[in-house]
Amino acid sequence: MSEDQPRWLPLSDLRLRRSYKWRAYPADVIPAFVAEMDVTLASPVTRALQDAIAAGDTGYATLDPELAQAVASFQLGRFGWQVDPADVRLIPDVMAGVTELLRRAVPPGSGVVINTPVYPPFFHHIGETRCRVVEAPLARAGSRWVLDLDAVEAAFTQGAAVYLLCNPHNPTGLVMTEEELRQIADLAERFRVLVLADEIHAPLTLAGARHIPFLSLPEAQARGIALVSASKAWNLPGLKCAQLVAASPALRALVRRLPEELVYGAGNLGVIASIAAYRDGGAWLDQLLVLVDRNRRLFADLLADRLPGVGYVPPQGTYLAWLDCAGLELTGEPAKVFLKKGRVALRRGPDFGSVGTGWVRATIATAPEILAEIVERMRAALA
Ligand SMILES: Cc1ncc(COP(=O)(O)O)c(C=O)c1O
Repeated sequence: MSEDQPRWLPLSDLRLRRSYKWRAYPADVIPAFVAEMDVTLASPVTRALQDAIAAGDTGYATLDPELAQAVASFQLGRFGWQVDPADVRLIPDVMAGVTELLRRAVPPGSGVVINTPVYPPFFHHIGETRCRVVEAPLARAGSRWVLDLDAVEAAFTQGAAVYLLCNPHNPTGLVMTEEELRQIADLAERFRVLVLADEIHAPLTLAGARHIPFLSLPEAQARGIALVSASKAWNLPGLKCAQLVAASPALRALVRRLPEELVYGAGNLGVIASIAAYRDGGAWLDQLLVLVDRNRRLFADLLADRLPGVGYVPPQGTYLAWLDCAGLELTGEPAKVFLKKGRVALRRGPDFGSVGTGWVRATIATAPEILAEIVERMRAALA
């Protein structure tokens, strides 16, 4: 086995972790509610962090030119997107970037379009800036999730000022096509809408799908700002490092208006780990994607066998599973029932918008045995 092979950890190791995922619930609960992976770190990341600790390099973060260069090289190598390192800005995390951009880009009361069901903090952060959530729910084409461009256009027509685009999409795992993204760019141009493209899950695009960075489309550059991070794909969210990219004169000027202090929310270890991940973590990431691909299939088999009443469309990207539990006719909110009777913690569907009623989200970046145990516990909750 190569040194840089990601490995799922057993419960006995995971229970020693201090992260939110492993401390939020009592020890008899299996947590699968938050987007963290139960995996070993990529060795370039481990080495970079160990060197930093040995050197006592734990001061404040700054935008290291190596980070900007690493972002640019990674985006070009993996997705063919040519980023000018001068356009990369350090932010503590994606949501801090979204919040600060909204505060400066639009007045309170402005409409911000999101594709529900969607990552729950979107609601909170839009509210925090005193903007208004405008829902353009995703649609279904057969069993697949698809973007409903008519709903997006209707939201723009009604005067929304910003589109908080989540691609790849949490929780459905939808990866938008080039054609869809071009149409978004067209609509944004026509209605003068600012697109904040949250591409945090991009490196987790799985076999069979292709991630197109929004700003890689020339027609998107005048209207879009991208928010990217190594935090999801290399499991570094607690280290606090994300980046934003703006590539037009007007949007660069908007980014320059972000407060200087924003950078101090980022962690220096996050910068160090992100440089290592982007620059030297590609082989590990490729192996991780193989493991996640296996898990999304295994999860389908386990559900078909043990819980055929649950609806599941395997994600095209992300390690998240969005599960329709409405057919189970549970006596209460599904996530509550699974927790109380099955001792498995999943994320409540309604947190993703009212269209999530009857649904739950599970994180499937874990060992196959734990995945099987999650399904067994969900099944036990039906009894
Ligand atoms: C779509 C999406 N955006 C943003 C975040 C949060 O990112 P950050 O911790 O960088 O704010 C997550 C976390 O899971 C996410 O899924």
